[in-house]
Amino acid sequence: MSAQVCSCSSRPEPPVAIVNAAAEAYRGVIPADRWHEPYMPGDELDREIAAGVVFWGHEEDGMLVGVTVRDVDLIRHAYVLPGSQRRGIGGALLGRLRRLSTRRMLVGTWAAADWAIRFYRRHGFESVSPARKAVLLKTYWRVPDRQIETSVVLANPPVDEA
Ligand SMILES: CC(C)(COP(=O)(O)OP(=O)(O)OC[C@H]1O[C@@H](n2cnc3c(N)ncnc32)[C@H](O)[C@@H]1OP(=O)(O)O)[C@@H](O)C(=O)NCCC(=O)NCCS
Repeated sequence: MSAQVCSCSSRPEPPVAIVNAAAEAYRGVIPADRWHEPYMPGDELDREIAAGVVFWGHEEDGMLVGVTVRDVDLIRHAYVLPGSQRRGIGGALLGRLRRLSTRRMLVGTWAAADWAIRFYRRHGFESVSPARKAVLLKTYWRVPDRQIETSVVLANPPVDEA
């Protein structure tokens, strides 16, 4: 992972509270055995950022975290407070990361989170095939098999499946 950090925040701390408020959208939607509370424990984001995040930023009520893993940039978290969604905050953060990134960007999200899949598709991401998804999740993430089953991976630029 790259050590380069770009903080675009005006606040001193990454707002884990935004994550947990926005992650309420998953309650009752993602498989029950994958839900936990709080969705993100207090210090988890700090530990991720310390471990080599290349981008984290937030504007108003949204935040996004990206990390470089070998030859790709992964979007680890993208969350906007429920009352502030669909006003372009997530799109602005994603656009900023896209401009900073020189690599293919990948995001893994819950297959049931159709709103998130729409969001990424609007920003030039396309879903990869199920077979490619499993390979990518095993290559770039550390996730249990159960999470592979219940996730999708989207890529920007799209992956050539041929
Ligand atoms: C996904 C998320 C980060 C998008 O941020 P945002 O600021 O709302 O997104 P933007 O305003 O830039 O883009 C809006 C587009 O995203 C999609 N979208 C976002 N929220 C949506 C919702 N609640 N329902 C339906 N579509 C939604 C739509 O395509 C929407 O376009 P439209 O309003 O013209 O239909 C935000 O909705 C969120 O935090 N959701 C809950 C947590 C989550 O799913 N995070 C993704 C983890 S990988």
